[in-house]
Amino acid sequence: MKLLIIIGLAAVWCDAAQWQDRRFPDDFRFGAATAAYQIEGGWNADDKGESIWDRLTHTNPDFIADRSNGDVAADTYSNYRTDVQMMRELGLDAYRFSIAWSRILPNGISSKVSDAGIAFYNNYINEMVKYNITPMVTLYHWDLPQKLQDLGGFMNPNFHEWFEDYARVAYENFGDRVKHWITFNEPREICYEGYGSDTKAPVINATDIGTYYCAKNLLIAHAKAYHAYVKDFKPKQGGVCGITISVNWVGPLTDSEDDRLAAEIKRQAEWGLYAEPIFSEYGGFPAELCNIVAWKSAEQGYRRSRMPEFTDEERTLVRGSSDFFGVNHYSGTLVSATHYKETHPVPSLLDDAGVGVYNPPEWPQSASSWLRLSPNSLYYALTHLDTKYNKPIIYVTENGWSESPEDGYYIDNGRVEYFRAKLNDALDALEAGVDLRGYMAWSLMDNFEWNQGYLERFGLFEVDFKSEYKERRPRKSAFVYKHIIETRVVDPYYEPDSLTMWIDDGHYFQSAYYNNQYSSGPFSVSYN
Ligand SMILES: *[C@@H]1O[C@H](CO)[C@@H](O)[C@H](O)[C@H]1NC(C)=O
Repeated sequence: MKLLIIIGLAAVWCDAAQWQDRRFPDDFRFGAATAAYQIEGGWNADDKGESIWDRLTHTNPDFIADRSNGDVAADTYSNYRTDVQMMRELGLDAYRFSIAWSRILPNGISSKVSDAGIAFYNNYINEMVKYNITPMVTLYHWDLPQKLQDLGGFMNPNFHEWFEDYARVAYENFGDRVKHWITFNEPREICYEGYGSDTKAPVINATDIGTYYCAKNLLIAHAKAYHAYVKDFKPKQGGVCGITISVNWVGPLTDSEDDRLAAEIKRQAEWGLYAEPIFSEYGGFPAELCNIVAWKSAEQGYRRSRMPEFTDEERTLVRGSSDFFGVNHYSGTLVSATHYKETHPVPSLLDDAGVGVYNPPEWPQSASSWLRLSPNSLYYALTHLDTKYNKPIIYVTENGWSESPEDGYYIDNGRVEYFRAKLNDALDALEAGVDLRGYMAWSLMDNFEWNQGYLERFGLFEVDFKSEYKERRPRKSAFVYKHIIETRVVDPYYEPDSLTMWIDDGHYFQSAYYNNQYSSGPFSVSYN
């Protein structure tokens, strides 16, 4: 008996994989991500047109916590070669960035293509390709040309025509080198935050129908751009096209039937609305939420459901229109059918979902109100998608941690802990058979964090926004991530020591990081 117990224990111990043995596959793509408006600057350089974020920040500066904007940001428009040196130094396999629509089509529509805009992205892409860094391009990361917003933006049922034309211009000009396309970044944030509430441009705040109509028009635009790629570009260019959806984990507070249903409704309201029409077997909006909105709309005196329907033709067009599922993941929440309910505008998406949300205070909090280190949240999210949507190819297209400019700063241990935790989730998901192909850390460098301006920092590299050349310096997390990419292993004990990151062409970032401390400078960073 005793012997059996000992053998049993040994089996358990020996089964538990050691961190040294848990490796990311060699062809797994590690990268970092950014978005045009958050880093590029050059808001009116050459003939770039105005975007909805230019308009919002210029006309309503109080909307941004520190009254800042993205006019200059990290000035990637001038510093793109430095950015690529940072990628090269980290050893990135891939880099995810977005194209500013109004930089290549100043009026939004395709009658006028900006040579300067095309040249900028050509240079940027060529620089990456030179160092064997795979470009992963997002077509739309929230910066709609203002001229299209003046025509209703995502509320206009012809939106898909504008988007397909724009996508074709991008495929034509960059598709010889870009093999990974993402149509939209985070439909929830575009539709719910931009149209269904009041937290992101264009602040339409149509709480009753904004989210749902935007969702339908966005999905049709996505599908048109996807099919345009598959039909007219993929045969020659041979790339893939997908979409990125924010999938934070939503779990039930208790194991009760009611809480489990509440969590499912919340998942549908958060991301099922956008994922279900593309990735589910039947397509169309998620059934339970669709029913709730239909009966609430009737009760509220609407002549039709506030959630529009897809025709059969539209449903078929959208269903299956993605070569991979791009997952932006940050956090998790617990949902209750009965507790923690708050009041929301009536009618609205949150009122329609009608559930309570709880964030355990013991989950470490970042500088962002919405971002906590929720245990195993990425593992739960990935395995859930794997099961629900029949093993899609998945890329984690964003994952990261914010600190305020005062916290930690160069010694960003909170970020290091977060990356290690989430990359262990990714390893667990791989071991569970999830078809996970890559991971893009958010973000390569500090950037304009939308309503929070420069008060929440996500960068592996710090950006000194006050300096003339927007100097970049690696944080501790940059060295830790570099080590993970190099070894393909998450070493929980690794501490970087001598730390200088070199740039190829005679410039260098010298961080004074040594012995787990940064000296107070001066830092020598030289740019020509
Ligand atoms: C958005 O609408 C809600 C509900 O009607 C309202 O409470 C809120 O003040 C509005 N926000 C803005 C910025 O107008």
